Amino acid sequence: MDNRAIGVFDSGLGGLTVIREMGSLMPRENAVYFGDTARVPYGSQSKATIIEFSHQIMRFLLRHDVKGVIIACGTASSNALEEMRASYDLPIIGVVEPGARAALRATKNGRIGVLGTAATIRSGAFERLLLKEDPSLEVTSQACPLFVPLVEEGWFSDEVTREVIRRYIKPLKENQVDTVILGCTHYPLLRPLIQKEMGENVTLINVSEAATREMKEFLGQHDMEADHAAGTYDFYASDSIDQFRSFSRQILDITNLTVSKVSIEK
Ligand code: DGL
Repeated sequence: MDNRAIGVFDSGLGGLTVIREMGSLMPRENAVYFGDTARVPYGSQSKATIIEFSHQIMRFLLRHDVKGVIIACGTASSNALEEMRASYDLPIIGVVEPGARAALRATKNGRIGVLGTAATIRSGAFERLLLKEDPSLEVTSQACPLFVPLVEEGWFSDEVTREVIRRYIKPLKENQVDTVILGCTHYPLLRPLIQKEMGENVTLINVSEAATREMKEFLGQHDMEADHAAGTYDFYASDSIDQFRSFSRQILDITNLTVSKVSIEK
């Protein structure tokens, strides 16, 4: 048993989809969440910058004595996971490996689509892992730089969002993928629209859910689960506290959520 909290971080608000999954999959676990709302999006940053930001956040989370970390950001997972694992001595789970594994289990025709930020797609992380497991797969990757701002604006079911989705998924439809990895933790919030445009027979992989399941499994295997009556969450952000509050109200079932603004650069 280990009652310490799990650290969860994202460039902004998308990682709250991991907190949502924790509420249903690991309701006894506490979490310390950090959203780097002052510097979102990471998707347009270089690998070196994403690594530097991730180090700053890891150090912040370690000061809160977390027992493990979920990198609830596709961009940081695909660009900084190895460096974080090499630098810190605690379990660190990103969203790329769990997402790729879930897609491998789901596909029947061996054609998998990957949607992610520009930096995630440029890293080739999902594609590499998928092809390592099965070189015969056909992987179609598409960067979707407009998705994160649309989600952060709360435009989950807007006509503009629908049109943007149609354009981005075109190559995936042309290549007849039967499985799509939503490779960014913001994208589960667009799931109903993406599902509608891809068609009901296509399986969408929610990387937030897949990563939360892997953390749960890891804690179980290592006797590190918490036994709180109900998990509690501490939220921190580097800016935009009001937006954080209104956004989280839309996706989390938590009344009186408090968010503290912190500076982590030093
Ligand atoms: N939630 C982040 C991700 O999963 C958003 C990316 C960004 O900040 O651009 O990639």
